[in-house]
Amino acid sequence: MKALILSGGRGTRLRPLTHTMAKQLVPVANQPILGYVMGHIVEAGIADIGVIVAPETQEEVKAYLGDGTKWGVSISYILQERPLGLAHAVKTARPFLGDSPFVMYLGDNLLGAGIKEAMEHFLKSGPHALIFLKEVRDPTQFGVAVMDQTGKIERLIEKPKEPPSNLALVGVYFFSPSIHEAIESITPSWRGELEITDAIQRLIDSGKKVEGEILKCWWLDTGKKDDFLKANRVVLDEYVKKDIKGTVDSDSTIEGRVRIEQGARIIRSTVRGPCVIGKNAVVKDSFIGPFTSIGDHSLVEHSVVQHTVILSHSEVIDIAQMEDSLIGRQAKVVKNRGLRRSLQLMIGDHSLVEV
Ligand code: G1P
Repeated sequence: MKALILSGGRGTRLRPLTHTMAKQLVPVANQPILGYVMGHIVEAGIADIGVIVAPETQEEVKAYLGDGTKWGVSISYILQERPLGLAHAVKTARPFLGDSPFVMYLGDNLLGAGIKEAMEHFLKSGPHALIFLKEVRDPTQFGVAVMDQTGKIERLIEKPKEPPSNLALVGVYFFSPSIHEAIESITPSWRGELEITDAIQRLIDSGKKVEGEILKCWWLDTGKKDDFLKANRVVLDEYVKKDIKGTVDSDSTIEGRVRIEQGARIIRSTVRGPCVIGKNAVVKDSFIGPFTSIGDHSLVEHSVVQHTVILSHSEVIDIAQMEDSLIGRQAKVVKNRGLRRSLQLMIGDHSLVEV
């Protein structure tokens, strides 16, 4: 059994953050999404992992994952020159995959539970493909499945205008090598991509068994800001335990489940969990409310911040109330202390400022 992680693509929906970083590396509760994906694959016992990368972001993905030694696995990188679809990625990875069964895991998908049990079921019962499904409110943004009572998939359709069900395809797929032949027989969709959804439909059309399993745990596709803040909230809520490695002065209060990383300093402040405060971050004369992640080397001073994600090396100073915000790396949010009352902004492409 091999694994194929997809970590290419352009990440247009998370701009401006993804102008300068791979969407799969955006941290949730201070850990890149790819870290959670690796965790599930390693836990399932898969040691041979291929990672699809794009020319623009391959260096930082390689810098984070390395050769796999830190997870005790072997990682092979496979370059997909252009984002021509998930099935195209599988095609590009064929020399790595050979005739092995494999799990394909989209590197921007976060699942509330691992994949070990599903993998064991797939290997034992031997369908040609096993896909995960989840009921969603707006299926038009996803691949959608029609499934019978027994779990057999009858039909799949990518981003339908009129969805035949509310069961979306989650970005984790188990395949036997017969998927390669199916991919050979499909053509690009209206969005110019070779869709994995169409390839799975081919398996069904040629009489091969495709099974679906409805996920019991949560699933988040971290495509947009609100999904992303939700992912941060859910992960903080489930995983964070009280763990204080940094320093907290005697004028500060830590309430609930707060993780304070090495070298971080809390000075004359209150931090109410669940929260994570990154390495060497400084929180001074501030209140940090629930569901906040503060990145490594960032500074929050004389401010109130809650339900917010601040990435690394950023500063928030003299802000009376910051909520539901997503602040990129090396960004600064400061109160204008000059005589002028007007806003003074320097905002990058694709930014959003609500005042
Ligand atoms: C892709 C798949 C889609 C699936 C989704 C899950 O969509 O094509 O079927 O539901 O991932 O994240 P994309 O991210 O390419 O829009």
